[in-house]
Amino acid sequence: MSAVEFRDASSADWTHVAGLLAGAGLPVAGAADHLSHFVLAFSAGTLVACAGMEVYGEYGLLRSVAVAASERGKGLGAAVVGRVLDRARTEGVREVILLTETAPDYFPRFGFEPITRADVPEAVKVSVEFTGACCASAAVLRLRLP
Ligand SMILES: CC(C)(COP(=O)(O)OP(=O)(O)OC[C@H]1O[C@@H](n2cnc3c(N)ncnc32)[C@H](O)[C@@H]1OP(=O)(O)O)[C@@H](O)C(=O)NCCC(=O)NCCS
Repeated sequence: MSAVEFRDASSADWTHVAGLLAGAGLPVAGAADHLSHFVLAFSAGTLVACAGMEVYGEYGLLRSVAVAASERGKGLGAAVVGRVLDRARTEGVREVILLTETAPDYFPRFGFEPITRADVPEAVKVSVEFTGACCASAAVLRLRLP
């Protein structure tokens, strides 16, 4: 982990982020519009992990949490999720929603709890993740930020 560097994404990172998401089997749709709220991790100059936040006022949608297959199990997922949550908190986000088909059992370690779609704030439902990119069977989780 010592050689890993973290920074916020810029538009120049899009191609690499899209490649990481596709490689992890995650939706790419809508991600480019929120790239400025993505946190990236690099190892020896190579993108190895990302986590994104769609910000809707005091609500956020955590998305695009991906770690390169060869780098999993080293705490990188936790590191990028922690950073993107910290950043959202400083930007005034108080409640974070997450849709996931692949990792509903990963996120409770950060304090996320299952909710129903009826509990999702209207402000977040405008996201492409709700309107098309992510399927109806995805689990919905919520984290209230202190
Ligand atoms: C889910 C993911 C981001 C985890 O990243 P990571 O860097 O390997 O995770 P960390 O090193 O922070 O944590 C490892 C722990 O998480 C657990 N874990 C990893 N993936 C998991 C999953 N899909 N579901 C439940 N637990 C998972 C590991 O078993 C390990 O558990 P332990 O701490 O008890 O040993 C990564 O596996 C990934 O990119 N998956 C594909 C994309 C995806 O499903 N993203 C989430 C949906 S947005």
